[in-house]
Amino acid sequence: MEEHRFVDGSPLDEQEVSTELSLRPQNLQQYIGQQKVKEELSIYIQAARSRQEALDHVLLYGPPGLGKTTLAMVIANELEVGIKTTSGPAIERPGDLVALLNDLNAGDVLFIDEIHRLPRVVEEMLYSAMEDFFVDIVVGQGPTAHPVHFPLPPFTLVGATTRAGALSAPLRDRFGIVSHMEYYDEQSLTEIVKRTASVFESDIHEEAAREVALRSRGTPRIANRLLKR
Ligand SMILES: Nc1ncnc2c1ncn2[C@@H]1O[C@H](COP(=O)(O)OP(=O)(O)O)[C@@H](O)[C@H]1O
Ligand SMILES: [Mg+2]
Repeated sequence: MEEHRFVDGSPLDEQEVSTELSLRPQNLQQYIGQQKVKEELSIYIQAARSRQEALDHVLLYGPPGLGKTTLAMVIANELEVGIKTTSGPAIERPGDLVALLNDLNAGDVLFIDEIHRLPRVVEEMLYSAMEDFFVDIVVGQGPTAHPVHFPLPPFTLVGATTRAGALSAPLRDRFGIVSHMEYYDEQSLTEIVKRTASVFESDIHEEAAREVALRSRGTPRIANRLLKR
């Protein structure tokens, strides 16, 4: 059966993942639009780099397809640190979070997509991890159970969410940098369309690029999908 798909901002199927990777801008300079977000981030990134400290935790929020995942990767690239990627619903138990955190090197980025969907117990464990870089875990069972203080390397949590309002206040307050992603204007989208075309080594006229941009509802993911058709 032929597969019919709507062109919208919804998440990717497997086929799309590999082209996605090549489409993604690698650094802030290649990242088109979101001027305010970029300027703010670039100041913080430079400061973190010159002090050789982990960047403050970053919350990216805005509708799907606006470049949150892409920006998380750009941040890690700009910091020249590693990045581990996961999502709120994927971290089911506190132990899952400890395993992820334990795997980080000093300064690394942990990217949690859909961070508003973290289970409560995991979220609560994240508070001390974000604030003071430790977690308290309970080891053993029954009468031998005892708490263990588990220090962590300094790291940067980058959280992405489509619904900032769905985040609890204690979690939201632990992000030093909160960036609101906005819909792209026609000019930025036209540029993104042209960039995507060039990644596919195809030429596109200014007029045609603008036509695609106009139909993209301010969303790069939609623009890229329209272009590919
Ligand atoms: N500022 C941008 N410049 C160029 N391409 C972008 C930009 N923002 C997003 N894209 C492209 O749009 C698509 C969706 O971006 P993504 O980061 O997955 O969005 P989100 O995580 O917010 O849903 C990707 O193909 C990405 O390369
Ligand atoms: Mg994403």
